Amino acid sequence: MSRRRLRALVLAGGRGTRLRPFTPALPKQLMPVAGKPVLVRCLEQLPALGVSEAAVIVGDGRPQIEAVLGDGSGLGLSVTYVPQPEPLGLAHCVALARAFLGDDSFVLCLGDVVVTDGLAAAHERFVCEGPDAVVLTAKVADPRQYGVVEVDGRGRVLALAEKPRVPRSDLVLAGVYFLSPAVHKAVAGLRPSARGELEITDALSALVADGATVLSTPVTGYWKDVGDVEAVLDCNRVLMEALAPERAGSVDAASRLDGTVVVESGASVLRSRLIGPVLVGAGSVVRDSRVGPYTAIGRDCRVSDTEITGSVLLDGAVMAGLDGVHNSVIGRGAEVRATHPRTDRCFLVGDHTYVEV
Ligand code: TTP
Repeated sequence: MSRRRLRALVLAGGRGTRLRPFTPALPKQLMPVAGKPVLVRCLEQLPALGVSEAAVIVGDGRPQIEAVLGDGSGLGLSVTYVPQPEPLGLAHCVALARAFLGDDSFVLCLGDVVVTDGLAAAHERFVCEGPDAVVLTAKVADPRQYGVVEVDGRGRVLALAEKPRVPRSDLVLAGVYFLSPAVHKAVAGLRPSARGELEITDALSALVADGATVLSTPVTGYWKDVGDVEAVLDCNRVLMEALAPERAGSVDAASRLDGTVVVESGASVLRSRLIGPVLVGAGSVVRDSRVGPYTAIGRDCRVSDTEITGSVLLDGAVMAGLDGVHNSVIGRGAEVRATHPRTDRCFLVGDHTYVEV
């Protein structure tokens, strides 16, 4: 087995039911946060770990995911696509990628998870201490929807349970796993869980039961499973704090920009007030509006006579004549127009929808 060569397996299949109405039309891993798809953020972190080859598990969203990632060269990676006909579980993905992974160690990443810090420390522990696995963990208030981990004082994993009704700790699997090829035997011995999936948590439990060394390290920065709308908006808010100001597009003299504002190339801002952090995507036009803070406008959007905060507009969205829009997500090419302005609105508008209020 080669410990030096680290491959990556990134999971971008699944059903994404919690992110309807944006899914299934948009694979949830392509949901933009602070102007960039979660999946791209995930892959971007891999070269720093020494990864040059990644396999991406894809379901029905394959064409869109492939259109964004291509062959991976734009991200410094060589990307191979592995189709998963049915979302049969995270460990099923490991089994599907068996040929790609060979006898190399690999980092398994959920393509809908954002981790800003902690990968390097986990990787170092994996390389230096030579365990069979290192998992990233996070503390959550309600662990019942996660893979729950019990560890000793040195972070060695003693036991795991997938979505337990009565969790034995508040520590959960964060969605990044450094795995040695020992995991393949554990995966091969799995049976589907009560919900019909091959669980990676069960594969880790099998390793622990076999006496293998499974270690854990905590995520140290921001961590989010971007699985529902609330998570998208929260993640967008946090990551927008890290934006660097940019003024590639045009801003007229009648507009006022405060705080961190990004106006991408080909975008224009006319007679508007932008209160950063705000992102105006390439080709978008904002006119006679008050935008921000924490608002990310995608590419080729049109925003006019509108007041909007804390929201995400996907590419091609149109908003006109709306006051007091907060914490909203507007789908690709959707159009929301008000004939009578009124304050305090929150919208979840799927792709290519027309809403008149
Ligand atoms: P989940 O968020 O657990 O699964 P999901 O996509 O089915 O979501 P929902 O509960 O909203 O229906 O999956 C974590 C990540 O792994 C996510 O990026 C999707 C991916 N995945 C696969 O690629 N194949 C699978 O079989 C499963 C279950 C998930």
